[in-house]
Amino acid sequence: MQPAPTKKVETHQLETPLVDALKTYDRHDRRRFHVPAHAGQCLYEDSTVWNHPFRYDLTELDGLDVLSEPDGVILETQQRMASLFGVAHSFMLINGASVGLMAAMLCVAQPGAKVLIPRNAHRAVLSGLIVSGAQPVWFLPSHLPDWDLWGPLTVAQVQVQFQQHPDAQALFLTSPTYEGLGSNIQAIANLCKAHGVALVVDEAHGSLWPLSDQLPASACHSGADVVIHSLHKSGGSLTQSALAHLPQGSCVDPTLFQQALNTLQSTSPSYLLMASLDAACGFLGSTAGQARIEWLLSQVHTVRSALHANLSQIRLYQPQRTAAQFWDPCKFYLSHPLETGEDWGAHVEEAHQLAYESAKPGGVLYLANLGLTEADFEAFQTIVVAEDEALRAAERSPSAHRKEAVDCAEICLPQMALSPREAFFRKGHKVSIASALNRIAKETVVHCPPGIPVLMPGERIQAAHLPLLPESGVWVVAEP
Ligand SMILES: Cc1ncc(COP(=O)(O)O)c(C=O)c1O
Repeated sequence: MQPAPTKKVETHQLETPLVDALKTYDRHDRRRFHVPAHAGQCLYEDSTVWNHPFRYDLTELDGLDVLSEPDGVILETQQRMASLFGVAHSFMLINGASVGLMAAMLCVAQPGAKVLIPRNAHRAVLSGLIVSGAQPVWFLPSHLPDWDLWGPLTVAQVQVQFQQHPDAQALFLTSPTYEGLGSNIQAIANLCKAHGVALVVDEAHGSLWPLSDQLPASACHSGADVVIHSLHKSGGSLTQSALAHLPQGSCVDPTLFQQALNTLQSTSPSYLLMASLDAACGFLGSTAGQARIEWLLSQVHTVRSALHANLSQIRLYQPQRTAAQFWDPCKFYLSHPLETGEDWGAHVEEAHQLAYESAKPGGVLYLANLGLTEADFEAFQTIVVAEDEALRAAERSPSAHRKEAVDCAEICLPQMALSPREAFFRKGHKVSIASALNRIAKETVVHCPPGIPVLMPGERIQAAHLPLLPESGVWVVAEP
């Protein structure tokens, strides 16, 4: 009998480029001033599960409950989380904060309903619009031109929107922003309640806020209806794990929220992700966890004071007095006078193994997080001060370069020609940048991080968008 022919295996099929890239990244031993917040260390006291990930990679078996209809250990875990964050209901998310924002949209806005959204929203909010068919009303929060940063949303800005759109059903806002600037949620929530408008707060970057008196008040305790936390960004859980909360007095029915999540999430939730949420919350609520948060904040304050005292060329963002009470000091946003953030951030990483969270023309963002060590903070301070001294010694004076770096397409208000959902489902084709002006976008153009779309489906392409489009062109809605 002839042996069965064996399938010929090409050499490249045996390669594991992603695994190799991870190993290479880790070999460089960088100081990780970026997400996830554990910075490569298991912060939890009990490391059994984390030492044997395959053994504990289980599914919804007897005794392990069901994420979509929890009535056992998952329910108990979520109740414990709700108690830690001081809310009525908490839900574990296994597709990041993104899925929580989409579920929130399904709960607060039916097809065609008007939703007020400041333009610095994360792309997941846009995904929620495509799925729900709600109609966005975009407007601008404040903007800090000297830094090219989005600022807080003010009560006056919300008031204007309520006057112009008395039929709006919901307000989605990001607080704190990616760079740590928060809004006065209590005042905005009072206004929303008075107008019968649901308030969803994307607090993705503020997971620690409800857990320390030294950090600003969380939306969980300020009258929001839904609050979303990307726990992996600052709370020490594994990447992609996050939490959604319905605070006390929320207008959203928990059963409806569960149904919205069940519509969007996998039916095979990762127990490793859920266990990391459980372990992270257990840690954050413990005496050791509370001490770690205090320690982090003290490191941050020490380094910040030293940088303010020593930097004369490189600027470190620090809010004005009133904005400071809604600001997260763990975000170090540094602006080099001569180089773009991308160039300077890459140089520092290459020269000193100091890894940043993100870089854009105006500056570089470093995240102080729970997994870093005292040596990491000392090195960060020393490196930045040395970079500043080198600039001084070279007698290179600050140029007007920074002004040119402002990303103006991000701050132009979109001209909506179609709803995101309509544009998403229309026929489309790709055009070159040269032919893109005035066409209606069919795709989302987004630079990640921070994941704030430059262009969304349904928006007319304006001149300011052109330099930000991919060189290969952009998908537009086909003209009839
Ligand atoms: C403000 C904001 N909201 C939501 C998200 C989405 O979070 P996740 O990556 O956990 O889905 C991000 C991610 O960068 C974000 O910056």
